[in-house]
Amino acid sequence: MSNNINMSVEIAGVRLKNPVLAASGTFGFGREYSEYFDLSLLGGISVKGLTLKPRKGNPPPRIAETPSGILNSVGLQNPGVHYFIENEIPFLRKYDTAIIANASGNTVEEYEQMVEILSDADIDAIELNLSCPNVKEGCMSFGSTAEGIVNVVKRVKKYAKKPLIVKLTPNVTDIVEIAKAAEDSGADALSLINTLLGMAIDAKTRKPILKNITGGLSGPAIKPVALRMVYQVAQNVKIPVIGMGGISNGTDAVEFLLAGASAVMVGTAGLVNPYAWIETVKGIEEYMKETNISDVKELIGGLII
Ligand code: FUM
Repeated sequence: MSNNINMSVEIAGVRLKNPVLAASGTFGFGREYSEYFDLSLLGGISVKGLTLKPRKGNPPPRIAETPSGILNSVGLQNPGVHYFIENEIPFLRKYDTAIIANASGNTVEEYEQMVEILSDADIDAIELNLSCPNVKEGCMSFGSTAEGIVNVVKRVKKYAKKPLIVKLTPNVTDIVEIAKAAEDSGADALSLINTLLGMAIDAKTRKPILKNITGGLSGPAIKPVALRMVYQVAQNVKIPVIGMGGISNGTDAVEFLLAGASAVMVGTAGLVNPYAWIETVKGIEEYMKETNISDVKELIGGLII
């Protein structure tokens, strides 16, 4: 509470001091951004996607700038879940912010192991990554059908001692079917959208710009798609929805809250402006003051049709 404004929200039993989180893959483990601002100003941080073993990721080039967005094909580069637990959690715990571990696997068994390991770690929630488009096994290949979602979520749920947030891919025909499959299988919350599968070509060389040929598109270019999907999902599930996709400021965030998101994640904007996360928090607060709203929860689902 500041200036009689309550910014706090709750996602699956996890209290966030404000509804703004750092999106996985855009914030590393927070070390670099901690030199720009106090990480305690954030509602939470979803860390770079973790796997059982360390991964080098895909060969470069793996980032391409596009109009109002970027394509990435990072390929889940990360130091592995055990390194994260030993070295990054103690760093993040110095800050008063929720820690969300984004977890991936090549097989359902690996997802089970990840959830079992992370359930005993000092984190607040697990974000199950069923949506990264840049790896051959696991992730989007499981998350792009309702059957795949049911198979993974039901099985990992048995090991989950932390709230389970399932991160959805937009690369599907019917996002509501996928979201309901996750909810019915035991997801405690949903986060969406991950990146849209795309590609970029260099006309001069006649070659794809990304070594991996395709990549995931993020940034302002995808915001209308993300808003539409968050709106549709929030109308059709009872569990909380965390919205993301092209959010760059407080106004964007408010739009997602109005569409039904209970919290938002900011990602790509921070690659251009390292203060995007805290400016988004301030922007929501300013909007609330201007519109005489004392509790941010009043905005959730407040869209007038
Ligand atoms: O390629 C990547 O590391 C992206 C991960 C994701 O989109 O979840």
